[in-house]
Amino acid sequence: MKVLVLPGDGIGPEVARPAAAVLVAAATRGHEFVLTEAPIGGAGIAAAGDPLPEATAHLAEQSDAILFGAAGIAGDTLLPAARRPGAGLLRLRKRLGLFANYRPAVLYPELIDASSLKPEIVRGLDLMILRELNGDAYFGEPRGVSVDAGGERIGVNTMRYSESEIRRIAHAGFRLARKRTRKLCSVDKANVLEVMKLWREVVTEVGREYPDVALTHLFVDAAAMHLLRRPTDFDVIVTGNMFGDILSDEAAMLTGSIGMLPSASLGEGRRGLYEPVHGSAPDIAGRDIANPLGAILSSAMLLRLSADDEAGATRIEAAVREVLARGLRTADIHTPGTTLVGTAAMGAAVLAAL
Ligand code: IPM
Ligand code: MG
Repeated sequence: MKVLVLPGDGIGPEVARPAAAVLVAAATRGHEFVLTEAPIGGAGIAAAGDPLPEATAHLAEQSDAILFGAAGIAGDTLLPAARRPGAGLLRLRKRLGLFANYRPAVLYPELIDASSLKPEIVRGLDLMILRELNGDAYFGEPRGVSVDAGGERIGVNTMRYSESEIRRIAHAGFRLARKRTRKLCSVDKANVLEVMKLWREVVTEVGREYPDVALTHLFVDAAAMHLLRRPTDFDVIVTGNMFGDILSDEAAMLTGSIGMLPSASLGEGRRGLYEPVHGSAPDIAGRDIANPLGAILSSAMLLRLSADDEAGATRIEAAVREVLARGLRTADIHTPGTTLVGTAAMGAAVLAAL
């Protein structure tokens, strides 16, 4: 299996490399893994003047799976959009047609005290946000900043979804719900936005093909509220690119730390891009304090979804549970009575547990 490792920026390399080591150590299907590294994001700009160097994109197209760290450098929001490190990731998702982004939020019982919510609200949390990844205001045209007749600057982005884009992510949502508890909540803003009215109509139409799945709809503001009020009522949430970006960070905090959360981005085939939900966190880069478990759990998703290695994926998840049960914690999930460890020690502990 050809796995392209894209460490990227900030804490990306610190978490992606242990995740790659865990991937190879945990696999059970006898695949021979060929790991290649390439630059992306700020590292891509430094190496080739482009957040997605053509050589990196080409390697990604040739690979069976991609393990991604993070993209982003301090102060990059001031750069023009096309030169921002995160643009490399966005273009890669689009170029590979990775339209379905699976973001699980699972509370490990050992971390219940690290959650920002009361234990009785989050106990048993196990939900999945399915975020559409190729459309919405992220890619809609027109976009940009122009100057109007009065000399004032106007910023424009376009929230856009075609019927077929909504249909394919809706199908992915219903298929996922069938594998879980047959509950699907679609999140939109149909009370205000035409594009989201279409979203709701198309999801409802697709739902007629899945009469065994209980479909509900929430407006995004209410969804944000209920995620804090009654998070364990949710199972699968399907939503657009922008709302999914926001709600998945919110859901992350229910689990104790965004550093714990993995994600998978898939298209029509088996090739996927696997990345922790957290970003590059330039403020803590190079200090051996980042949590590598989100990246390591992304390797588990890679084995499960791109390598058809459920046993290998389960081994990684069990190893993570074991190190947590032994009380090892990085700074983001550290609570009184547990043992504070660094990024490298946490990665080594998971490898040893394997
Ligand atoms: C994410 C990130 C990215 C996004 C950024 C880094 C472009 O926030 O994966 O959630 O907005 O999609
Ligand atoms: Mg985000």
